[in-house]
Amino acid sequence: MPEKKNTYVDFGDRGRYNTRNKLNDLTGKEWIKFSKSWFVHRPPRRKEEELLHPAKFPESLIEEFISFFTKEGEWILDPFLGTGSTMLAAGKLNRNAVGIELSKDYYDSARRRIKRNNFSTELVSICGASENLGELINSNLKKNILFDYVITSPPYWNQLERNSLRQKVRLEKGLSTKYSENKNDLGNVKDYQDFIQRQAEIFDNVFDCTKPNGYLTIITNNVYFNGRLFPLAFDTAVSLSNRGEKSWVLKDEKIWLQDDKPLVALGVNNAWVANRHHQYCLIFRKEKK
Ligand SMILES: C[S@@+](CC[C@H](N)C(=O)[O-])C[C@H]1O[C@@H](n2cnc3c(N)ncnc32)[C@H](O)[C@@H]1O
Repeated sequence: MPEKKNTYVDFGDRGRYNTRNKLNDLTGKEWIKFSKSWFVHRPPRRKEEELLHPAKFPESLIEEFISFFTKEGEWILDPFLGTGSTMLAAGKLNRNAVGIELSKDYYDSARRRIKRNNFSTELVSICGASENLGELINSNLKKNILFDYVITSPPYWNQLERNSLRQKVRLEKGLSTKYSENKNDLGNVKDYQDFIQRQAEIFDNVFDCTKPNGYLTIITNNVYFNGRLFPLAFDTAVSLSNRGEKSWVLKDEKIWLQDDKPLVALGVNNAWVANRHHQYCLIFRKEKK
């Protein structure tokens, strides 16, 4: 059989697009740029009329991931939607998306933000617990969807609630130190190992709704609590890789560097406590074993 030839479309400064690109709509030049293992994002200051979410990630960061892991028209899922950054990025990039958020206030805020933009793609936000992800999607979408890509940021265990100088700074800025009082809220799970287990169970549900070979990106971090570091990002990577039939294959980490965060006096003249100014974007894939 004659070998199929590559054909290219010239996008000027963006570079050349290979029409056999299986994953995304990027040129080779753009692809290589994103493959670097770290990036810097400095989110603009948030507008006052928006509901302040304590752990919102920048839309520019989500846009870069969505552009790399999907093509136009594909379907994206965010099972911890917050105030809707993933849906806004999906709409802007002509992708369809479903987002699930437990807190009614954040869900309402996400809906308002999406509505303001009049996007032309399907953007379905659902208020509920991702423990029931499959049923929620079936009853709200009324069609069977397997997602091309999942990107999300679960609560960082108890990090919002813990009593520290950072919390004082949050309160002064009018940010919450708790997502909700709901028992399904992963941010309210007291025990660290319980948190790791419950988080992994939610990603079992996500596994069932993802296309074979689809990617998953989780933005999370290691957290400091009671004088020690809990390796939450690393335990997230390990726990999702050991789920039997529903094991995700860990592909890589990409580090989000936050060089715009002010330094806070932590442990000065006493002991080591870092100003943690980076987060982990863990990249998994649903692959046949
Ligand atoms: C780190 S925040 C996500 C922020 C989001 N990426 C944004 O940019 O706005 C985690 C979110 O997960 C929600 N959440 C916690 N437990 C949940 C659950 N079991 N099901 C669905 N959402 C949950 C919280 O209310 C919170 O808004």
